[in-house]
Amino acid sequence: MKKFFLDLGLQPLANKYLKEFKSNQIKYKLKIYFDTKSKLVSISKRIPSKIMFDAKYPYRSSMSNTMRKSFKDLASEIKKRFNPRILLEIGSNDGALILNFNKNNVIGVEPCKNLAKITKKKNYKTYDNYWNFELSKKIKKKFKSIDLIYSANTLTHISDLNNVFKSINHVLSKKGILIIEDPSLLECIKKNSYDQFYNEHIYLFSAISVKNLLKNYNLEIFDIKNLSTHGGSLRYYIKRKSNKLIKKTRQVNKQIHKEKQYGLNKFETYKKFSKNVFKSKNNLLKILNKIKKERKKIIGYGATAKAVTILNFCNINKDLISSFIDITPEKINHYMPGKNIKILKYNKSMLKNYHYAFLGAWNFKKEILNKEKKHIKKGLRFITHVPQPQIL
Ligand code: TYD
Repeated sequence: MKKFFLDLGLQPLANKYLKEFKSNQIKYKLKIYFDTKSKLVSISKRIPSKIMFDAKYPYRSSMSNTMRKSFKDLASEIKKRFNPRILLEIGSNDGALILNFNKNNVIGVEPCKNLAKITKKKNYKTYDNYWNFELSKKIKKKFKSIDLIYSANTLTHISDLNNVFKSINHVLSKKGILIIEDPSLLECIKKNSYDQFYNEHIYLFSAISVKNLLKNYNLEIFDIKNLSTHGGSLRYYIKRKSNKLIKKTRQVNKQIHKEKQYGLNKFETYKKFSKNVFKSKNNLLKILNKIKKERKKIIGYGATAKAVTILNFCNINKDLISSFIDITPEKINHYMPGKNIKILKYNKSMLKNYHYAFLGAWNFKKEILNKEKKHIKKGLRFITHVPQPQIL
């Protein structure tokens, strides 16, 4: 049974950065539920993929050193540990992972045509389709079977998980490996990072819920890694149950134990989280309003989808955060969804004009604080809401 625990209000589509501000931008209810049987956390309102992931999708995986390094390290690990003949990536984005492989050994699947174009241009086989059974049949016909399937921050964006795993099962070889990577529910709850919820993030996985989900497809987790990316992610290494050659590592039960200790299998944990979210909202607004009263200026650093949840849930307007800065070409000179706050092109010197910077991209705190060392020395202060609202 699905039980409601958190209402994040009306939210616009998170990655729809508008060229012109429109006060009547469509907004959808963002309510979060916990399934007491499968332990899966999900949002209720499902927006069709075609609306969210179109030919103008602005999110680029290669926009930070942190992510580029994470994918590069993973590529080396995959080559060493699994040495696949063919790797298929579901949600290959701008090629941050596949470009680390020889083009004859990888296939990308990327429905956002503007992104698929990037890897196609580099002669990497890329299907600009949504991941579904039809596509898996097409791929199987052409490549027979796939030794390794990888997908980061994508499967949780697809409503029909049954279709997702049925399609994976269809193309994965008998000894094949599936690696998936998504934000960790445990880290989200611990860090009170409720901005992990937006309309694209239909599910927030935990090891407990992934284990339960995979049972239906005769798949099982044999290893888990905790990653610092996206504010704390889990990388699940998955095989067929029938493959007895690979042994399960201790990490799997360790993670599940940790999650149970924290109460991720219990509804009360989510009720408590919901209370903390409202506290966080109030405290963040207190900080921002105090700075406004002092007539000091705040810029938003990193026009993330996560920040869209914060702005719209906390009703933060231009009077509190005057503009955002970002390096993503697709976001620059557009407006934060739902808010009349413009995204300016990042340039180092403009930070001189601000006293404070709100870390929209808090998940890149280390990289950003390091990059802005000089400004910090001169007095620029960063604000974050994670794990609780504070001035750093
Ligand atoms: P990210 O946190 O990955 O995304 P989301 O919440 O949208 O899934 O996005 C980080 C954003 O921050 C992205 O738009 C790029 C931007 N950014 C900068 O502008 N400067 C930087 O130094 C870094 C690291 C990121």
